[in-house]
Amino acid sequence: MSTYIPFAEPCFDETEEEAVLRVVRSGWVSTGAEARAFEEEFAAYIGCEHAVALNSCTAALHVALMAYGIGPGDEVIVPTMTFTATAAAVAHTGATPVLADVEPVHLTLDPEQVRSLITPRTKAVIPVHFGGRMADLGTLMELCGEHGLTLIEDAAHTLPARDGDAVAGRIGHASAFSFFATKPITTAEGGMLCTNSSAIADQARRWGLHGLSRGAEDRYRPGKRAQYDVDRPGFKYNMSDLQAALGRAQLAKADRLHTRRTAIAETYLRELAGSDHLELPPPDTETNRSSWYLFPVRLRVELDRDEFRQRLHTLDVGTSVHFQPLHHFSWYRENVVRAGQTFPVADSVYPTLISLPIFPGMDDKAVSRVVSAVSAP
Ligand SMILES: Cc1ncc(COP(=O)(O)O)c(C=O)c1O
Repeated sequence: MSTYIPFAEPCFDETEEEAVLRVVRSGWVSTGAEARAFEEEFAAYIGCEHAVALNSCTAALHVALMAYGIGPGDEVIVPTMTFTATAAAVAHTGATPVLADVEPVHLTLDPEQVRSLITPRTKAVIPVHFGGRMADLGTLMELCGEHGLTLIEDAAHTLPARDGDAVAGRIGHASAFSFFATKPITTAEGGMLCTNSSAIADQARRWGLHGLSRGAEDRYRPGKRAQYDVDRPGFKYNMSDLQAALGRAQLAKADRLHTRRTAIAETYLRELAGSDHLELPPPDTETNRSSWYLFPVRLRVELDRDEFRQRLHTLDVGTSVHFQPLHHFSWYRENVVRAGQTFPVADSVYPTLISLPIFPGMDDKAVSRVVSAVSAP
């Protein structure tokens, strides 16, 4: 048996197997009753009015922006410390992503940076809850309110997370979750758009299914009309019932998965507290809870991050890096970064960042092995 500890791994048992079999045997595997049920259950879990199941978080961000009418000539502010999908979704609409630096503690969008980047063309802001720790949505929502901007939460990493009364996915005008294979819950690939606006949910649904007035489920069933209208060149972003069945099984155990992630994070925080070469992420407080999708540590700046990762790899400990800032990539440098713009926080932190393994299936022995491996500089 492999002793390799991956950076992340999905957590499935017989409930997911049974869920997938149920759909396979039902004769209907595309978007249908399972997807609708997943949407209802997800909306209830988050505490929002509407949830639209899609085939990725990227798709959810894209249709949210389309639903808000964002397009060519518009600007949308996003953090540079994120995965390319956050900004690429903006570019897909024809709008310009505007990169902002992050604050140094949680590495989430810095509201002061956002304030300085707002222009008459700014239409929206997309904060990312980095690693599962919520961005400062209170300040950002206030700022958006002052300037008439839409706030779309990139909640790819959060299920669940909260900051006081603020629950990730419930505060912004819309929010986008990811169910990619490494995420807190997974449908292999998948995403969900949440919103309290029925108009935005309807628009997002329409954009996400070719612009069709009626989906396949509503046309192929016995006695249903075959005709439909197409009122825009929409995208093919719908979630299949196979994925939705996985999602429902995962959602039912989301709190249990989160409890285990939190326990692993607490062990790391306790066991690595004395390290003189690692800076640890801030712990949870009574009211501020991370999803602990990531456990990002910072290596003392004199040490070589890539050599350190390589040494962990030889000890059978997988790690990852979140994130190479977007302004380091050629497309963003050539098309997005403004003359003279600097990103001091992202640039100073990025070379030191390592994400340690954290996933609910990790047993205590694996956690101890990671602690031992990273304890030596
Ligand atoms: C912050 C962030 N946003 C968006 C995405 C895109 O998610 P998906 O792969 O579901 O499209 C990711 C994926 O890792 C991410 O980390």
